[in-house]
Amino acid sequence: MESVAAAIRSALLTGEPRAKVMATRRVARDWRLGRLAWRFGVPMPDRPAWPVSLELLSPNRMPKRGRGGSPKNRIALWHSLAHIEFVAIDLALDMAGRFGAHRGQAFVSDFLSIAADEAMHFALIERRLAALGSHYGALPAHDGLWEAAHRTRDDVAARLAVVPMVLEARGLDVTPATLERVRAAGDESGARILERILDDEIRHVAIGAGHFRETCSTRDGSPREIWLDLVRIHFRGALKPPFNDSARHAAGLSRSWYAAVA
Ligand SMILES: [Fe+2]
Ligand SMILES: [Fe+2]
Repeated sequence: MESVAAAIRSALLTGEPRAKVMATRRVARDWRLGRLAWRFGVPMPDRPAWPVSLELLSPNRMPKRGRGGSPKNRIALWHSLAHIEFVAIDLALDMAGRFGAHRGQAFVSDFLSIAADEAMHFALIERRLAALGSHYGALPAHDGLWEAAHRTRDDVAARLAVVPMVLEARGLDVTPATLERVRAAGDESGARILERILDDEIRHVAIGAGHFRETCSTRDGSPREIWLDLVRIHFRGALKPPFNDSARHAAGLSRSWYAAVA
């Protein structure tokens, strides 16, 4: 029987977007159906494969996106969302494959189900891009999104503190405004995609926060103190208000934690 780690590794190393979506769904399904063995003999790659045609730019070289509803601006918006979801697939796969051996089967189940959600989000957005006459890889993308994963590759608590609880939580703050703009521009089907993503992301943040609290049980200090320390060490940006307090609350994030970093 193929090992769960080998299946995850091969999805991470698949760069072509549709093939990554299919490989990710296959790993999640095979795991759910008990078709993958609990073995972790292979390492996760330092960096996952992304489309060869995708031009990566450092964040400060990314062209500024216009806010109006011109076709060019709409494509740029959906392209940037596609990139976030594409990287989110790899972040969830890497979480399961890198830390699953120590964290256990429920952890792997949770993050493979998140990876399958991210693959679905990416596929919905890619379809939106296609309807606008574009595709993922047609525009340059932000190169910074893997950095936080790389910096926290040796510590599951640091990874959970930064990836779901800072980066994914940031999505909860910014998505409602994007959704309103998309809806105001008359793009109702686009708005429904973003609503679905927002719902799923609340669940993802909640899962990450739950596993973070669990990892804290074997460390000194309160979960809040541990989180604040890890975020200060591993997260370079600032946590910027305004926060979506109600979505964050629904995800189990406490204002007394994130307001202390803002
Ligand atoms: Fe997502
Ligand atoms: Fe997510």
